Amino acid sequence: MKPLIIANWKCNPTTLKGAKLLFNGVKKGIKDVKNVEVVICPPFPYLQLSRSFLDSCIGLGGQNLFYEKKGAFTGEVSAAMLKDIGCKYVIVGHSERKEKDEIVAKKMRASLGAGLKPILCIENEKALKNRLKGINDISKLSVAYEPIWAIGTGKACSPKAAREKQILIRRILTQIYSAKIAEKVRILYGGSITAKNVANYRLDGLLVGSASLDAKEFVKIIKGVSKS
Ligand code: PGA
Repeated sequence: MKPLIIANWKCNPTTLKGAKLLFNGVKKGIKDVKNVEVVICPPFPYLQLSRSFLDSCIGLGGQNLFYEKKGAFTGEVSAAMLKDIGCKYVIVGHSERKEKDEIVAKKMRASLGAGLKPILCIENEKALKNRLKGINDISKLSVAYEPIWAIGTGKACSPKAAREKQILIRRILTQIYSAKIAEKVRILYGGSITAKNVANYRLDGLLVGSASLDAKEFVKIIKGVSKS
């Protein structure tokens, strides 16, 4: 399993020009990187632009989705739409969205139903069971452990604590499903990852917020993972 590095651009950058620059910077910087899977999750309006990147080494993901397929739901974007526009992945239940577990579980089911690979965010392992309610097949699942105090604060969780959480999360997945299935799930860490601290995290991947908005910094992070 290649490590998975996700860029969560959140509500950035504010112009299409800025998004293009960022895409290009990352694309150029990681031309020779082979042993890492890189996915960019831009704001919805920039997904269309990203089509041209789909053949490259960078995958595309949504930052959120709505759980219904279609209909009169103003402002919502469905899993089917994300899939159709070329997304492989979708971030589900990011803590900044403050969604109830029940809603997150609905979104998880919708994303899997449409053939997307969900990156399920959890602030702690207790949320896992409820957020996976009604899901039998987790072969496309990644879990991102993101303690809320580490997001955007510059205070990353220690590599040791992140590793312990990874073990705990896998143990819970083993209890709900089976060891054979659980060992295939990538368990990522997210929260204040930078080019400086990345080398210490030996996990299945990372969810990167603010540091993914600087192409050079993000490329350094990817290369840091690729070397480890
Ligand atoms: P951060 O954000 O890297 O800026 O801490 C991580 C996230 O929210 O996914």
